[in-house]
Amino acid sequence: KKTILTGIKPTGKIHLGNYIGAIKPALELAKVEDYQAAYFIADYHGLTKIHDAYEFRQLSYGIAATWLALGLDPEKAIFYRQSDVPEIFELTWILACFSPKGLMNRAHAYKAIVENNKQADKDVDFGVNMGIFTYPILMAADILLFKTNIVPVGKDQVQHVEIARDIAESFNNVYGETFLLPEYQIQEDTAVLPGLDGRKMSKSYNNTIPLFEDEKKLKKLINKIKTDSLPPEAPKDPDSSILFSLYQEFAALKEIEELRMQYEKGIGWGEVKQELFRVMNSYLEQPREKYNELMASPEVLDDILLKGAEKARAVAAPFLKEIKKKVGL
Ligand code: TYM
Repeated sequence: KKTILTGIKPTGKIHLGNYIGAIKPALELAKVEDYQAAYFIADYHGLTKIHDAYEFRQLSYGIAATWLALGLDPEKAIFYRQSDVPEIFELTWILACFSPKGLMNRAHAYKAIVENNKQADKDVDFGVNMGIFTYPILMAADILLFKTNIVPVGKDQVQHVEIARDIAESFNNVYGETFLLPEYQIQEDTAVLPGLDGRKMSKSYNNTIPLFEDEKKLKKLINKIKTDSLPPEAPKDPDSSILFSLYQEFAALKEIEELRMQYEKGIGWGEVKQELFRVMNSYLEQPREKYNELMASPEVLDDILLKGAEKARAVAAPFLKEIKKKVGL
């Protein structure tokens, strides 16, 4: 069986970008019989940012509840918290010894912070902790330890998957074929979903639409999505419209064709937003209820995640042992 693996870090509520860029495609792949899916909460990655214990734990539960509410079957998939699988962390150190520092300097999560922090004292640290700096090595361990074939992600993670390949090759060059070289998989049309202000939807830009926001807030947020100032009667291009790409993710084929025709004829943005809210809300209603139920019983989530971690360790431990032996540990 081929392994598909992806992770989400608990640094904010799951938003439409996470859903459309990673979760939705990952759930579809999980249904394919020849694939073993491994999906996890990248909590050690989250710790680079969130330093409030209560908030951190709630955010982790939020990610777990989201996957389950959307239909992930924990019996079929391996579903776990990164921090419950210590083998990942051991491998991280081994891989760190094969990761050139220059490669980390070029990693964009780190670079972005440095660039956004031009004000900061250059002699200090740009607000970067070592967790952020070595982030791609931990991510490489996540991926390589499970002999992953395919990593479904949004475009912003492509570089990290490439770094994982680079590190795997450095190791293989010394000790012979050990790690599989993973491939990323992105959704061409929604690889970067824009947020309310038109920039990439991102927890750090504060421009997100959380997936399980209640009805009222969801409506409000949809109304806030930036549009141009074309009058209602002017024909509009569906293919360059955020509203239309979101609509395509949630509506039925017939509805999509219908709206496309209306765009071409001329339709007001207010009306499009109303229609988008309608399809999104009806699609998300049931999962939202399930999500709220799960969030109210964290012990159920803990139980599922711990069982998942056992499954993950059963795969990870023997491989780690092999790796340690190879390097002479
Ligand atoms: P994270 O938590 O930032 O995001 C989770 C997933 O959502 C995707 N995504 C988007 N896709 C399209 N449009 C957007 N606006 C958008 N915003 C976010 C991300 O690309 C990602 O797929 N480093 C990872 C977590 C991670 C991981 C891994 C992923 C840790 N280890 C191993 C894959 C494999 C991250 O920070 O994702």
